[in-house]
Amino acid sequence: MSNAVMESKPSIPEEIPTFTATLIIRRFDPEVDDEPRWQDFDVQMHGTDRVLDALHKIKWEQDGSLTFRRSCAHGVCGSDAMRINGRNRLACKTLIKDLDISKPIYIEAIKGLPLEKDLVVDMEPFFDSFKSVNPFLMAGSVPKAGKERKQSPVERARFDDTTKCILCAACTSSCPVFWTDGQYFGPAAIVNAHRFIFDSRDDNAQVRLDILNDKEGVWRCRTTFNCTDACPRGIQVTQAIAEVKQAILRGKA
Ligand code: SF4
Ligand code: FES
Repeated sequence: MSNAVMESKPSIPEEIPTFTATLIIRRFDPEVDDEPRWQDFDVQMHGTDRVLDALHKIKWEQDGSLTFRRSCAHGVCGSDAMRINGRNRLACKTLIKDLDISKPIYIEAIKGLPLEKDLVVDMEPFFDSFKSVNPFLMAGSVPKAGKERKQSPVERARFDDTTKCILCAACTSSCPVFWTDGQYFGPAAIVNAHRFIFDSRDDNAQVRLDILNDKEGVWRCRTTFNCTDACPRGIQVTQAIAEVKQAILRGKA
């Protein structure tokens, strides 16, 4: 038997094709505009570029006043949710080549929250709802010194899906109930309540269930699944809302 080691040839990277994409962005400057207006931009893009790269290119090379939020640029911070061709997505996770570039790409701010400038909305109402469900561990007893709060893998799996939320608001701002009723807690607040309601270490599920049994709570959900479709983390948002509804009806988590 031969001991010869097969040497693989180094692969030559394929040339990344470039193309021109047209972005039509809904602009609004409260100091100048009475109403939002649409503005087109043509940008030269590479096959690996994302919508966030296109926005940066426009801002750096064509119009420095273009305003949008972003931080991590890798789908973790949740700050760049926007409507891209009518669908809520993260700009940093949307490849331009995956959109239909034979047509313009329409970009606008998420709906249902007050528009501040261009693609930036006021997130305060969203975070107020989030805070109102007590999104933190509320445990009655303190473990003995040096001991942990134990949890089995099965107990941990019960709420694993809802731990993935990055608070991007893509779900809440895609919900038609939230568009028409700004008082509704919205899917993201319910997801973050779910995360603690079903945590075996928490002792205050009932407090959150009572909060969400409010007339602006879970019963406002019309099960349209927009939230689940919009979630960039793949969280089964509608299912989480249904589980909270069932827990309210049962009277326990
Ligand atoms: S549930 Fe999904 S869409 Fe909603 S805020 Fe969390 S990560 Fe964003
Ligand atoms: S910039 Fe952080 S999630 Fe997109």
